[in-house]
Amino acid sequence: MLTFYSRILVAYDGSDLSKKALDMAMALAKQDERIELTVVAVSNPPTATSMGSYGIYNQELINEIRENAEKILSEVKEKIAELPNKTAAVVLEGNPGRLIVDHANQTSCDLIVMGSRGLSGIKEMFLGSTSHFVVQKANCPVFIVK
Ligand SMILES: Nc1ncnc2c1ncn2[C@@H]1O[C@H](COP(=O)(O)OP(=O)(O)OP(=O)(O)O)[C@@H](O)[C@H]1O
Ligand SMILES: [Mg+2]
Repeated sequence: MLTFYSRILVAYDGSDLSKKALDMAMALAKQDERIELTVVAVSNPPTATSMGSYGIYNQELINEIRENAEKILSEVKEKIAELPNKTAAVVLEGNPGRLIVDHANQTSCDLIVMGSRGLSGIKEMFLGSTSHFVVQKANCPVFIVK
């Protein structure tokens, strides 16, 4: 058991800042082979409720969103495979903030690394909604890359 951060979760949405977060987490992991690194990408397809009262949602769109998350992670898998450390890359489906926090709890992560902003273009706010949620709800320290 390491006394410092031994299980790091990176929240990855393919944005430049999440790439920076991954690089930061990899640099930390390089400090000690015993550090475990998990990269989580959450796909958030529209649900029947969010698509209007008819309950009709586009299965093709949902599949596309899922495939996109898989594609984003396959690039990451190659990159983290360079490390001698134990690594994992997972795609989850649902609310990104909630799932990042839950996954960190379930896998006993002791550090979450993520970007201040993600894929959305709004620049006025310092934190995006996902990073805002995770900082508030996580049970471990959160490293925000900016
Ligand atoms: N779907 C996701 N899966 C994994 N990590 C994510 C996801 N969305 C965001 N993140 C993480 O959260 C960081 C901040 O993104 P966030 O979504 O909070 O900001 P945003 O996209 O700019 O704004 P918003 O989504 O609120 O419109 C990203 O750099 C990434 O590390
Ligand atoms: Mg976002």
